[in-house]
Amino acid sequence: MTVKIIVGAQWGDEGKGKITDILAEKMDLVVRYQGGNNAGHTVVVGDTTFKLHLIPSGVLYKTCTCVIGNGVVLDPEVLFQELATLRAQGIEVTPDQFKISSIAHVILPFHKLLDSQQESDRCENKIGTTGRGIGPCYADKISRNGVRVGDLVNKDRLAKLIRQRNWNTLLNTELDIDGIIDQYHQLGQRLKPYMIDSSLFINNAIDAGKDIILEGAQGTMLDVDHGTYPYVTSSNPVSGGACIGAGVGPHKINHVIGVAKAYVTRVGEGPFPTELTDATGEMLRQRGAEFGTTTNRPRRCGWLDLVGLRYAVRVNGLTEICLTKLDVLDDCKTIKICYGYRTASGEVLTEFPLDYDEFANCVPLYDELPGWETDISQITEYDQLPETAKSYSKYVSTKVGVPITLISVGSRRNQTIHLLQV
Ligand code: GDP
Ligand code: IMO
Ligand code: MG
Repeated sequence: MTVKIIVGAQWGDEGKGKITDILAEKMDLVVRYQGGNNAGHTVVVGDTTFKLHLIPSGVLYKTCTCVIGNGVVLDPEVLFQELATLRAQGIEVTPDQFKISSIAHVILPFHKLLDSQQESDRCENKIGTTGRGIGPCYADKISRNGVRVGDLVNKDRLAKLIRQRNWNTLLNTELDIDGIIDQYHQLGQRLKPYMIDSSLFINNAIDAGKDIILEGAQGTMLDVDHGTYPYVTSSNPVSGGACIGAGVGPHKINHVIGVAKAYVTRVGEGPFPTELTDATGEMLRQRGAEFGTTTNRPRRCGWLDLVGLRYAVRVNGLTEICLTKLDVLDDCKTIKICYGYRTASGEVLTEFPLDYDEFANCVPLYDELPGWETDISQITEYDQLPETAKSYSKYVSTKVGVPITLISVGSRRNQTIHLLQV
């Protein structure tokens, strides 16, 4: 029996989908524990690219059961679209293989409208959300106004929950509320075969000795508590969120795997000390195909930030790191790594600062390591990596204090180096 959490160690898009898919081959269960269809997890198998937004990245193995945990916010229409896309790609997902928590919260049309209205109201302080209604849905959950998946099948309860808010006044719209109640009740009927008590299901699997991944979305720096607030998402991607969002006790967790890119990207607004707005940043974007999986926005790119990564090790209790996209650095003559920040007052920080203004004004301090200037994308054994690539990964693991157990050198399954030790 093993329970592994997979968590993004940066600002999302670290390659969690690829890593989850690789590890899921030997797993019985993959559970998404937070976020919603703001996530975009890419899995490449042969010539086919799967873009998963809600369905866990274990779905491509028939042997793996996938669960949407109670901590996720679920847009039913998007879910059925995703199931249809998978079917068109040759993956038939049945209720035997795919389950949904009956107490996950539902993203309603109002939440999506509110998301875009709030963004335009913010004028100059936009978050740059994905516009999927995530924040408003979690806000309703926390303020105890939410609708949960199980509510959709009881039309009277659903009507009461939706009508307890005067949505048309709140949003200054004239939505057909009765029509929305009908529509979501019908979606509930379609969801019914998938609904379960997910905490019970997952804990029974743990007791039966099954192997389980709890798959995070977004990343540590987007965590509503530990991230770069207010430029964050509205859930807890950190490992603690996995216990809440799956209904599993902390002592059941054996491994906490942080997925980190060999550099850093960020989508949306907010401070980013190592951001490169020059030709090197553009090179990373092009070589790394850094365009959002969900919104197709160009991702902001920069050098690896070890202050942030050490922070991710701490707040998640990472036991290991999977280092992805090392191949994207193939052409670099030298590679910079940020080991500290200089604050506006001249102080040198090696721990992540919690004050927003202090962080926003930090200047990165860099070490510079030699690059390898060779194509590593076909290498599958650690020993075959150029010495400078090994040095880079050793530098990272030494500085953050946890081992790197996997290096990814391309988007495909076979572009993966498993390390016994670094
Ligand atoms: P996630 O949200 O963390 O699952 O990451 P995304 O799927 O949004 O973004 C990661 C992107 O990088 C996807 O297009 C992957 O196919 C791709 N990718 C993953 N690992 C590697 C790698 O090692 N090298 C390269 N070049 N691409 C990778
Ligand atoms: P995956 O799982 C990268 C960012 C948005 C925005 C902020 C808040 O693919 O790593 P939201 O719509 O959640 O209210 O937006 O969070 N964001 C992501 N950035 N990867 C993601 O998911 C993200 N999900 C949300 O760009 O800055
Ligand atoms: Mg993504």
